[in-house]
Amino acid sequence: MEKIQVMPSGPLKGRVRVSGAKNAALPILAASLLGTEDIYLEEVPELKDVEIICQVLESLGAQVEKLGPGQLKINAAKLNNYKTKYELMSKMRASFLVMGPLLGRMGRTENSLPGGCNIGSRPIDLHLKGFRALGVTVEEDIGNIEAYTDKLRGGKIYLDFPSVGATENIMMAAVLAEGETIIDNAAMEPEIVDLASFLSKLGARVSGAGTSTIRIRGVEKLGGTRHTIIPDRIEAGTLMVAGAITGGDVLVENIISSHMKPVIAKLGEAGCIIDEMDDAVRVRGVKSLKPIDIKTLPYPGFPTDMQAQFIALMTQCQGTSTALETVFENRFMHVDELKKMKADISVDKRLAMIIGGKKLKGAKVKATDLRAGAALILAGLVADGVTEVGDIYHIDRGYEHIEDKFRSLGAKIRRIEVEE
Ligand code: UD1
Repeated sequence: MEKIQVMPSGPLKGRVRVSGAKNAALPILAASLLGTEDIYLEEVPELKDVEIICQVLESLGAQVEKLGPGQLKINAAKLNNYKTKYELMSKMRASFLVMGPLLGRMGRTENSLPGGCNIGSRPIDLHLKGFRALGVTVEEDIGNIEAYTDKLRGGKIYLDFPSVGATENIMMAAVLAEGETIIDNAAMEPEIVDLASFLSKLGARVSGAGTSTIRIRGVEKLGGTRHTIIPDRIEAGTLMVAGAITGGDVLVENIISSHMKPVIAKLGEAGCIIDEMDDAVRVRGVKSLKPIDIKTLPYPGFPTDMQAQFIALMTQCQGTSTALETVFENRFMHVDELKKMKADISVDKRLAMIIGGKKLKGAKVKATDLRAGAALILAGLVADGVTEVGDIYHIDRGYEHIEDKFRSLGAKIRRIEVEE
């Protein structure tokens, strides 16, 4: 079994380049099923989750070819299957994103319920509500969902919550529906905008992505294109926190800094010195970090995917900080792990209170989910003694070459093999 071992590392210094965004690559790979000509993707991060979705595409009849680092060629001209395999679906929740494209291309899809990070109940009712509004019949059985239609028709959908996945899945079904679809209270995340821009390049007619109302005019057929995935704002944020928590000086490159506003604002409130450039951000930490409060929200609010890393940071702020999680129900599992490292944190429902400024102690901990794993690495950088993070398959799902990137900044981190 592999673990990541982290030693106290002192201030991290240097420059590091951010990879393409996992959460943009996954829906764009799913959307590649909609194209009938060659698709070339660049800056696709080399991650377990990307590997899984590529296997899902291949299981449906698409050809996926790796051309070089971060470069994929996909051809989905001939699909021959509308059923996804349980083994693949159970590994990753985002594999559910193939439902929309399959409805568009084949009018039919059959899937087992998605797996992925264990962060709350994560229902899919909004995805299904959207499909139904497009004229799809949905049959739910235990662990299985079948959806089919003779003809996809445009429809009007109001999302009760601006779900990222539901917005993407509905967009992908609607691009080949007859007539106009309007999604209201749509998610506004940059990854939605990247998906819309990819779909438009394939020949789809999508407008309003990045606002709360997205309009899609269905077309008969989509072609091929070349597309570069946007940088990963969560990886960028994690590396920025690494600079802040260690009192270091880190230049994080390949960033769209407008995507980073809440993270930049909160690091600034903590006292860090931030220099914003168009495609890079420099973070300089300070000796004494000030306590801060965060509240997770849909974009452009503070991202829930940065909450765990910020709780790690808050353990080093001088005073009491709070983190209010409003997006997911059960996203504080990293707190128990951080407490094993002697962090002083209490949780009341969706609010965590962190009494910072105390020295953390290295411990054997587990990555309870993807971002929790990143938080534990960050804590390990400033803890006394050795921190050993287990269950790192979660981390590998979403961070490309994580040890290399941290090591390039001077972190004492390595992957080790231990007996089970
Ligand atoms: C995506 C991201 C994930 C991020 C999350 C929120 C990907 C691959 N993953 O996940 O990293 O943490 O956005 O920014 O892009 N909900 C419903 N019904 C639904 C769908 C969602 O109630 O049908 C609820 C969820 O339970 C959750 C909230 O909506 O409480 C947000 O979920 P959603 O935005 O859908 O997240 P994902 O798309 O799963």
